[in-house]
Amino acid sequence: MKIEWHDSYAIGNQEIDTQHRELFHKAIVLLEAKDKAGLTDAVMGFFQYVRDHFTHEEELMRHLKYPSINEHMQEHDDLVSGLNSIATGIAAETLDRNKLAVFLSDWLTDHIGHSDAKLAAYLKLQN
Ligand SMILES: [Fe+2]
Repeated sequence: MKIEWHDSYAIGNQEIDTQHRELFHKAIVLLEAKDKAGLTDAVMGFFQYVRDHFTHEEELMRHLKYPSINEHMQEHDDLVSGLNSIATGIAAETLDRNKLAVFLSDWLTDHIGHSDAKLAAYLKLQN
């Protein structure tokens, strides 16, 4: 399971694309963390970045009255609750790294590849 940014994930909004690239980077840092302290730091860094990024996207969607905002925000919540369980697993030393890799990879490719791409198409129509 390899997590890697590809330019095909770009949705054409420069600010969001930069943030998405950073999300991939932070996911990789988390997957490569060596020990409990490293994992804890990495998951906290990822979590904070995710929340800032979601706030940015959600403000944009509200501003544009994006029709699919609720289902889009549901997917954001899914990542936030997934990260909460991951943090719990790290603290309890029960983290399954393979499951973590699958979860992050699936979320990033599904959400960015589909839901954010759909948002990008809507953004283009508004301009
Ligand atoms: Fe999103």
